Amino acid sequence: MVAAMHTSSSTETADPRRLYFNPQPHFLTVSDNLHTTYSFDGEGRLLGAYLDGISYRRGLGGDILMKQVVAGRAKRRRMLSTFERRQLLSLVSAHVAAIRECAQATASPEVCSWLDRALTWDVERLEAERDAFQEIYKPISILPPDQYLALVLQAAEGCSWNRCTFCSLYRDRKFRIKTPDEFRQHIRSVKAFVGAGLRMRKSIFLGDANALIIPQARLRELLAVVHQEFVIGDKGLKGIYAFLDIFGAERKTVSDYRELRDAGVRRIYLGLESGDETVFRLLNKPGSPSACIEAVQAIKAAGLNVGIILLAGAGGERLAPAHVTHSLEALAAMGLSEGDLVYISPLIVSPTGPYAQQLDQAGSPWLDQAAINAQLARLKDGARALCDPRAKVALYHIEEFIY
Ligand SMILES: C[S@@+](CC[C@H](N)C(=O)[O-])C[C@H]1O[C@@H](n2cnc3c(N)ncnc32)[C@H](O)[C@@H]1O
Ligand code: SF4
Repeated sequence: MVAAMHTSSSTETADPRRLYFNPQPHFLTVSDNLHTTYSFDGEGRLLGAYLDGISYRRGLGGDILMKQVVAGRAKRRRMLSTFERRQLLSLVSAHVAAIRECAQATASPEVCSWLDRALTWDVERLEAERDAFQEIYKPISILPPDQYLALVLQAAEGCSWNRCTFCSLYRDRKFRIKTPDEFRQHIRSVKAFVGAGLRMRKSIFLGDANALIIPQARLRELLAVVHQEFVIGDKGLKGIYAFLDIFGAERKTVSDYRELRDAGVRRIYLGLESGDETVFRLLNKPGSPSACIEAVQAIKAAGLNVGIILLAGAGGERLAPAHVTHSLEALAAMGLSEGDLVYISPLIVSPTGPYAQQLDQAGSPWLDQAAINAQLARLKDGARALCDPRAKVALYHIEEFIY
């Protein structure tokens, strides 16, 4: 628990000789004796903290994700409870007040005024942001890791399929597409909420699970709204990014994709999960592995990049060899190149959910964590060996995500 770990006097006082300030154009990092570090956005809201070997990331929605390395290299990740969150925020606030006193004599006026802004965010004000966030957004369930610093705009809500057996990310909401007027209103509320924190955001991510399935005519209108509200390109946000499922991807033509590219879309993320037909069907994914390969080829022919997600551990023990072999074959057939990404997501599912039951019926025992990790390494190494070296291969961990 946070209280047990951080009641030491190290966070109640500050020594000017051991304080380090690193003001960046869009965020401030403050470090006390290099053991304790905080970062704040342009508004002064806490972004992250590092205390006693534990790192905390605070999302725009007010949740705090704790990450700790335990037993060598294993990582423990979890969201703090309300009690723990409030305790951490009040501890940070007290420490920042002590730091601010010391900063008067040593830090620049810019740093002092940033710390003053940070101190206006007491526990109650930060916690009130949770309600404000929920007025504007449905939960942001997941983003690809390269998009953690994107500004999310929910052009649609939910997943139009929502029936993959392993995925519960969008089960809490119905799929719906916003009208251009609604979307503009959403964007304006987002801008007002994020405030100076907007400068930290690098790109636009169109939510939710498969925003690009929106029929082309509506998508065109919604993308036009984005351009009316933001500068996209060399002088602004670096592009528009979104998920798409394979059904949706099959319905678009190369010329549709070209239109998206001309409207600033840069990369489309698709969950292939497995290149093996049997495993794919077991997961109840829409489409098929061969349809995914064709869709990727069409997307790339239009000059867009792709991010392909594979699931480590899908299909259980009996189907594991086919899953690995056919997934790598599918990647090889896609002709990935510079700007494309391959993500491997270790499967995280309830042992009593629908996916586990299906594995049982398929007679393919559940893989334990060590076996999933071993498969993850095989998929990563295989993807690196097979794909163009300019395509990046990385981990996609749903428990690392916080927006
Ligand atoms: C928004 S979807 C990807 C785009 C699109 N909806 C699709 O399915 O092609 C999110 C991705 O998160 C990953 N994911 C979802 N549930 C997961 C789970 N239980 N364990 C691990 N990864 C999961 C999957 O790889 C999935 O493709
Ligand atoms: S994996 Fe994608 S298509 Fe399947 S339910 Fe999840 S978000 Fe929807």
